[in-house]
Amino acid sequence: MSAVAIKNAKEQLFDNGFLDLEVDPTLDLIKEIKKLKKQKNAVLLAHYYQDSEIQDIADYIGDSLGLSQQAASTKADMIVFAGVHFMAETAKILSPSKKVILPDLKAGCSLADSCPAPLFKKFKEKYPDHVVVSYINCTAELKTLTDICCTSTNALHIINSIPKDKGIIFAPDKNLGKYLIKKTGRDLVLWNGACMVHEVFSREKISKLVRQNPDAEFIAHPECEPHILAKADFIGSTTGLLNYTKSSDSKKFIVATESGILHQMEKHSPNKIFIPAPPNNSCACNDCPHMKRNTLEKLYLALKYELPEIILPNSVLKKGRACIDRMLDISANAGL
Ligand code: 13P
Ligand code: SF4
Repeated sequence: MSAVAIKNAKEQLFDNGFLDLEVDPTLDLIKEIKKLKKQKNAVLLAHYYQDSEIQDIADYIGDSLGLSQQAASTKADMIVFAGVHFMAETAKILSPSKKVILPDLKAGCSLADSCPAPLFKKFKEKYPDHVVVSYINCTAELKTLTDICCTSTNALHIINSIPKDKGIIFAPDKNLGKYLIKKTGRDLVLWNGACMVHEVFSREKISKLVRQNPDAEFIAHPECEPHILAKADFIGSTTGLLNYTKSSDSKKFIVATESGILHQMEKHSPNKIFIPAPPNNSCACNDCPHMKRNTLEKLYLALKYELPEIILPNSVLKKGRACIDRMLDISANAGL
């Protein structure tokens, strides 16, 4: 993670003198959160990988692109981010004058952590003429070393916007990178990073499930490994997958991404069946442990005390912004 002290909500609250941290178990947390949001003119942004109860009280639910667009355009005084650290950092970079709160600062990201900025800086020096495209799932510090950001929704458009004769470094997700190489025919230099959640799926178990459900379509997020993507009937970002399940005539889907998105799929298509793709062990590993650190209780405390706050050095705020602005411009021009 980047240049902020990593402390969880309770540690920060303790540091700030709030010692009565036991939340009254009889409190109607949803009612209190709604009340606090209104009182403080705060907007609650939630990623699709949040628990359903958090999705249901959010002002906006979306994927990484949608959340960045919301963070850039909101009129609220405060952004409360039910997501992970890099997302809240991105919101702070896009709205530096607003207070940005992440209910648990330990909500990190294995993919962002797989690409420490000092190591990447050395790696980048080997390719001085290359354009650096970084998946938005990276630290704010890495964004300062990046020319254009991308998300899984716009990655193809971003790569295609770069002149064909220009070399490209793509970081940090090697699986999304390999997918982009396949789709664009470009020779990207890849950083060797990955998401722990999207690398957990078992090809054997998925094949068995597909055989048992011949009427189901198998759909997958491009952060999955190539041998999983090779079996997919459709590949897309979180929003892409959701939209596909709405428009497809199929009545059953096997879904290879974080399980939180199933809540919206079920809400939008109540007559369809959604089966989470099985991981290669028996635990619920396609739940992102970082995303799932957010709880209603932490959201309530974060709104009440306006902590833990995302603070970034001015140099990071300034240098990290250009690559996100470029991404938002290219996305807007592509109608995304
Ligand atoms: P998208 O939101 O771009 O689908 O990315 C998924 C993800 O892993 C977010 O952490
Ligand atoms: Fe990071 Fe993967 Fe969790 Fe997304 S799902 S926050 S990429 S660890």
